[in-house]
Amino acid sequence: MITQQELQATIDVLVQKGKGILAADESSPTIAKRFSAINVESTEENRRAYRSLLLSTPNLGDFISGVILFEETLGQRSDEGILIPELCEQQGIVPGIKVDKGKLALANSEGDEITRGLDGLEQRLQGYKQQGARFAKWRNVYHITEHNPSRLAIQANAEVLASYAAICQAQGIVPIVEPEVLIDGDHSLQRCAEVSEAVFHAVFHALHRHHVVLEHMLLKPNMMIPGKQHSQQASAQQVAEQTIKVLRRTVPAAVPSINFLSGGMTPEVSTANLNAMNQLSAQPWELSFSYGRALQEPALNAWQGDMANAQLTQSALYQRARLNGAARRGEYDPAMEFIGG
Ligand code: 13P
Repeated sequence: MITQQELQATIDVLVQKGKGILAADESSPTIAKRFSAINVESTEENRRAYRSLLLSTPNLGDFISGVILFEETLGQRSDEGILIPELCEQQGIVPGIKVDKGKLALANSEGDEITRGLDGLEQRLQGYKQQGARFAKWRNVYHITEHNPSRLAIQANAEVLASYAAICQAQGIVPIVEPEVLIDGDHSLQRCAEVSEAVFHAVFHALHRHHVVLEHMLLKPNMMIPGKQHSQQASAQQVAEQTIKVLRRTVPAAVPSINFLSGGMTPEVSTANLNAMNQLSAQPWELSFSYGRALQEPALNAWQGDMANAQLTQSALYQRARLNGAARRGEYDPAMEFIGG
């Protein structure tokens, strides 16, 4: 198949009104952390059981158009013996794959990090594609301190993200480009906005240099929020206005959809913020979600590692997906949190 058509077909399924992406691609150390919060050991079988339970949620495809999987999950099967990527397709959900190999310190730039995994990426993508993956995700992070991120960090990370995106498109895989300006610290909303604007600007400059087709990628950014330790937290309205302002300055209209990460915001706050953005005047791109923690937290808490809680787990996930589906259309109301189902 012609690569461009293949990429467009994946975009068409991923970018649907009222739907967003579920991030279930926690690396081994991260899923171990999530499991330990509910006293569950992170064995291969527990990870399979949990993720296959999530993805078997009846009608999950009503609000979820794509799921980001971790490498291990691509080869695992549901309780019924169906390969997980196949299970996703049956639900009308496109399977994707996290392809970065995590981060390490950026040399000569104290306090900054860089993401690795470009070596051999082309071959790995070919394998993932055979296993059913149609899109990919790669995350770069930026710490905010008085001195970070440095100019070097902003440029080096942009270069890596753009190289990854170009390699994906050449393989017929839609790249999700994820520059995450972290929530940690006591910085203000304004400082988050200044840093994010510089970061997104550099990322799109690099994407342009690498000839990435903007119509065939998705952006997964952070929202503009004050640091977790900042004395003043912001309202959904403030977050929405600042976020849109920065995105309008930096993201070309050719990008079909912006799918936010939740990055440590609570499930309710992530939903309310997305909703506030979708209530502002129309924007050139769709405004959607690609949440990990904010979609999974209630489900994890309901599960507790016990299959007797299977139905509770699935309805917690379905409820969160439904509320974010509403936020996607600007139709969420916090009162909906208390309505069952
Ligand atoms: P969070 O929504 O928990 O930030 O996870 C999204 C993700 O995929 C981070 O890479």
